[in-house]
Order: sequence, then C-alpha cells, then structure tokens
Amino acid sequence: MDNERLQILLKENHPFHIYSYAKAGSTNTEAERKARSGCPDWSVVVAGEQTAGKGRYRRRWESPAGQGLWFSVVLRPAVAPERINLLNLLTALIVSNFLEEKIAQSSTGKMPAVNLKWPNDILIDGRKIAGILLQSKITSQTVEYLIVGIGININQKQEDFPPELRNTATSLRMVTGKSWNLEELLAQFLVNYYRDVNRAIASDFEGIVPIYERKLIHRGKHVQVKLPAHVIEGEMLGIDEKGYLLLETAEGKRQITAGDLWEIKNGVMK
Ligand code: BTN
Repeated sequence: MDNERLQILLKENHPFHIYSYAKAGSTNTEAERKARSGCPDWSVVVAGEQTAGKGRYRRRWESPAGQGLWFSVVLRPAVAPERINLLNLLTALIVSNFLEEKIAQSSTGKMPAVNLKWPNDILIDGRKIAGILLQSKITSQTVEYLIVGIGININQKQEDFPPELRNTATSLRMVTGKSWNLEELLAQFLVNYYRDVNRAIASDFEGIVPIYERKLIHRGKHVQVKLPAHVIEGEMLGIDEKGYLLLETAEGKRQITAGDLWEIKNGVMK
C-alpha cells in the first residue's frame, strides 16, 4: 500500500487518520491497540499484507501482498450498543454496493449477482469476495470504540487462492477480468463509507434493513445456524429491525443474534 498515493487520492481535508503498513499481523489487532491508546474516530489501519489475518470464528483470513484490501476502521460513533448489529449489516451493504458499482463500470456483459450472507459476507455468484470482522468495546452501555475490519479480494487469480478456497472464493479481478489499483479503490471506498455511515447514524439506520434484505441470499431457504451450544434449523424469514436473523423453526419463530450459517438442500449442507 503506497501511503503517499493514498493521501493524494484522498485529497486535502479528509476526515481519516491513516496508518499504513507494508506488512502487519492483523490490521484489526493493530487498530485495537491504537483504539485502546485513544486514537481518534475514523482512524484507518491498512496493510499491504497480513501475516495473521483474522476471520470470524477464529478462522484465518488469507491476505497476500498486493492482492486485496485489508484494513480496519476505528469508529467512535454516538450510537447505542444495540445499533452495532445494524452497523455491521450496513457495512456489508456498503461493500456490496461498492463492488457492484466497480463491476458495472468495467463490464459490458451480464451483471453477476452480488449477494449478502447474513450477517456480513459478500458473495458474487455464490463465491465469497469479502468479509467483515467487527469488534467492539462497550463500557456501561456506551460504545467506546468499534473496529470494523474489512477484507476484500481484489487481484487474485483463481490459482492464487489456496486449494481449499479455490472453488468457494472469488476476487474483483476474477469477476471483471482486469486488475485494479488498490490505493484508488481504498480511497473511493473510504469516502463512500464515511458518507453512508454518517447518513445512517443521522437517520438512526432508517430503511437499512429492507435494502439489506433484498440482497440476502438465503431468504426463504432452509438453513442451519451454528450457535455456541447447539445448531438451530429452519426457514430464513428475514431480518428484524435490530438486524437479528428470524428463523421459522419446528418450535416456532426464533430470533438469532449471531451465528455461523449454511444452507440445507435435500438434507445436505451447501
Ligand atoms: C470473515 O469473513 O470471516 C471476516 C474476514 C475479515 C478480514 C479482514 S482483513 C482486514 C481485517 N484484519 C483482520 O485480521 N481481519 C479483517
């Protein structure tokens, strides 16, 4: 990541505090360190490469040099802790809109389907292109800080992914057939993200859920969700106004706050 180029692309008077590294363990870990020592709202930690990129559920996030956007934004929003879920969904929505815009600008053919897998995976034609890892610090019902870690696969070719991801992952390059400048993409994304997050906070997240639901891949499908102690199964009804998942199970309607989800088709995991 070329910090000088990024600063030029962001132009003067931008609201971000950029910490750019060629290599980091995990930008989330680094961002959390900075947040704990008092860094300002809209600090952004970005790395060209992560050696210990973290995914949800303690998974590893492949973050090779120069092939993707690996960054974490420190937010100190004046919102109630119960809004964090909506901010998580909103982030996925903003990433998916951004990718859609880039694909539309660069291709003349058929637009691929850009979908969301609850809560915050971004899929293109069923393959994962981006993920979000949100960490939060809450003290006495106040959000002290949020770390929004975003990983977007940009310039990988299919063979660049490790064999176990080759059939389930994709990148912007695989979708559009061209490689992309990472600094340009990051500068454009951050400007959109700042605008959309501030708008959403100002309107108390009004209207976000129905827009998110339109892109939700498993709506109406039979799914299983892994919870800390057990697995719950049912038809995905949608998302409630808090951003929680609604499932119709054999025991009735259930509201799920967090979990790892997959589809069941003809009794088989998909
Ligand atoms: C997931 O889908 O499991 C979440 C992936 C999040 C990856 C990003 S890359 C930048 C930031 N730093 C990390 O270590 N993880 C997030």
